[in-house]
Amino acid sequence: MPVTSSCRICSGTVREFLDFGRQPLSDAFLTPEDLDGEFFFTLAVGSCESCTMVQLMEEVPRDRMFHESYPYLSSGSAVMREHFQAIAKRFLSAELTGPDPFVVELGSNDGTMLRVIAESGVRHLGVEPSGGVADLAAAKGIRVRKDFFEEATASDILAADGPADVIYAANTLCHIPYMESILRGVDRLLAPGGVFVFEDPYFADILERTSFDQIYDEHFFFFTVRSVQEMARRFGFELVDAERLSVHGGEVRYTLARPGARQPSRAVSDLLAEESAAGVTEPATLEGFASRVGRIREQLPALLGELRDEGKRVAGYGATAKSATVTNYCGIGPELVPFVCDTTAGKQGRLTPGAHIPVRSPEAFSDPYPEYALLFAWNHAEEIMEKEKEFREAGGKWILYVPEVRVV
Ligand code: SAM
Ligand code: TMP
Ligand code: ZN
Repeated sequence: MPVTSSCRICSGTVREFLDFGRQPLSDAFLTPEDLDGEFFFTLAVGSCESCTMVQLMEEVPRDRMFHESYPYLSSGSAVMREHFQAIAKRFLSAELTGPDPFVVELGSNDGTMLRVIAESGVRHLGVEPSGGVADLAAAKGIRVRKDFFEEATASDILAADGPADVIYAANTLCHIPYMESILRGVDRLLAPGGVFVFEDPYFADILERTSFDQIYDEHFFFFTVRSVQEMARRFGFELVDAERLSVHGGEVRYTLARPGARQPSRAVSDLLAEESAAGVTEPATLEGFASRVGRIREQLPALLGELRDEGKRVAGYGATAKSATVTNYCGIGPELVPFVCDTTAGKQGRLTPGAHIPVRSPEAFSDPYPEYALLFAWNHAEEIMEKEKEFREAGGKWILYVPEVRVV
């Protein structure tokens, strides 16, 4: 029997193409006392037969994921800090030039992007439900509303602050299953000539790189230019630009405006043509992806098992949310990877979700260096390999698993 669900964009039939089985919450790093009550759900992904939107088959309640101790920090990567500074400057020079402009960021996290806006004196508001990271932003002098953005929040903001010239969301829109409420809220809050800009992992890149670890509880939607264009139309917007980004393993930054307000760029039609040529949501493409994922699932633990049997030491690098899918789907626990190091204070001293691998600070990595490092934060490979070049000089080797299992 094919497994189906109802599309969160168009109510069409979503047909499953890959099931990862029981998975924990990807950002629920545990203390030993938490082990008993660990939450699991079924992680499976499908594609809508009507609007092509790729999405999870099961939704995790939002308060389980985004709360006071949500650990992810936008400022954890130097490359991402530069990335957010660049988009803030672009908004300031290209969009926020009228009288008393106003910008709203959804999922403003620790304020890495809004800090640049705040320093320039432009009116702004971050909407961030995770209390701990919202407090970090507030401590930097950023105006934050601790809340989930949705239609009612948008009405409140409009009443208090007036319409927004820019609404921006990075790595946040794809986290939100209740899209109708979000886009109605954006419609309410956005000034007539304003833009809604959001950037998220690009499904065509996930297919090309077989980066199956982009699939986890928090990533509910996997956008393509085609599915975003349909979603925009359905909710009264027009997709006017789509810009490919190299961050986080390949993303697209989408710009939505009111219909007719802006001339759509060539990039939109070019990417639509590329997606259609590549057959990104064709059943055969999705089946091919699922079988490549199956191969990685066999090869990665086999390699780690061989290294263990040879007495080699392997450490994990980057306790990413993505790594929850890899460790739990491939059956990788502390017997294969005894610890994983990560710069995030809120993850250190805890155990990774489901697989229960201890998380240590990056200092543990060189004390002494292991022979191999499994790079879970492969999307930050350049930054990390540069920072850890002494590991290579000491004879260490990196293990990567996307697009295939290899040692470099
Ligand atoms: N924008 C930051 C970045 O790109 O680094 C943070 C991304 S983080 C992966 C996702 C953020 O979205 C979290 O801080 C979470 O609390 C927030 N979030 C989740 N649901 C939200 C909602 N309905 N409205 C606003 N923020 C939300
Ligand atoms: P992300 O892939 O969701 O951005 O998560 C990256 C994780 O990797 C985050 O927990 C921080 C960690 N990290 C390090 O430990 N060292 C680093 O140099 C970088 C860039 C990230
Ligand atoms: Zn649909």
